[in-house]
Amino acid sequence: MQDIVIAPSILSADFARLGEEVENVLKAGADWVHFDVMDNHYVPNLTIGPMVCEALRNYGIEAPIDVHLMVEPVDRIIPDFAKAGASYITFHPEASKHVDRTIGLIKEQGCKAGLVLNPATPLSVLDYVIDKLDMVLLMSVNPGFGGQSFIPHTLQKCQQVRRLIDERGLDIRLEIDGGVKVDNIEEIAACGADTFVAGSAVFNADDYAKVVHSMKENAAK
Ligand code: DX5
Ligand code: ZN
Repeated sequence: MQDIVIAPSILSADFARLGEEVENVLKAGADWVHFDVMDNHYVPNLTIGPMVCEALRNYGIEAPIDVHLMVEPVDRIIPDFAKAGASYITFHPEASKHVDRTIGLIKEQGCKAGLVLNPATPLSVLDYVIDKLDMVLLMSVNPGFGGQSFIPHTLQKCQQVRRLIDERGLDIRLEIDGGVKVDNIEEIAACGADTFVAGSAVFNADDYAKVVHSMKENAAK
């Protein structure tokens, strides 16, 4: 099992002050920046692209940037994000015609690759590709918006993916995205997750450090 990572989703940050917000959340103890890319096609919302990722790098953000692509088709935007400074690039199998090829493309571009499973996406999508992944991301809400409630069946799914990872002796991350809070992170971690995206729980709080530290403490219990 890997170290615990807290990855605040900038979807809930104040976009008018994004550089400062990201700087503050990292100073507060966050490990990664979770960067939600939505295209108003694969998901019913529109957010930010590679230019904003590059702007964060130019602003001096050095932490890993975890780019979550909710974009269809996905392949053509991958090189742009790699150039813009993405560390991890994750995508949804429904948004790629050739999942194995898309994983290869992300790695060729020098980034770490992750596959994202929606709440209703079966684990069988991992069968022939899990060995090539650096991360599995389980959505615990339907993608498109911050501030939704955690879907409880994700816990069981998380246990199943943890078992799969361990049985195959893989050293990859298991990330959960959606509705992660200070008061449910312990239960999620107990199901085998090691990487936690939290948007509204962090950015809607007055004290980022307090939330990030409580999350880390509870996840490590
Ligand atoms: C949803 C996004 C999430 C979201 C998480 O499509 O992928 O990253 O911003 O936000 P919270 O933590 O508020 O559920
Ligand atoms: Zn996300």
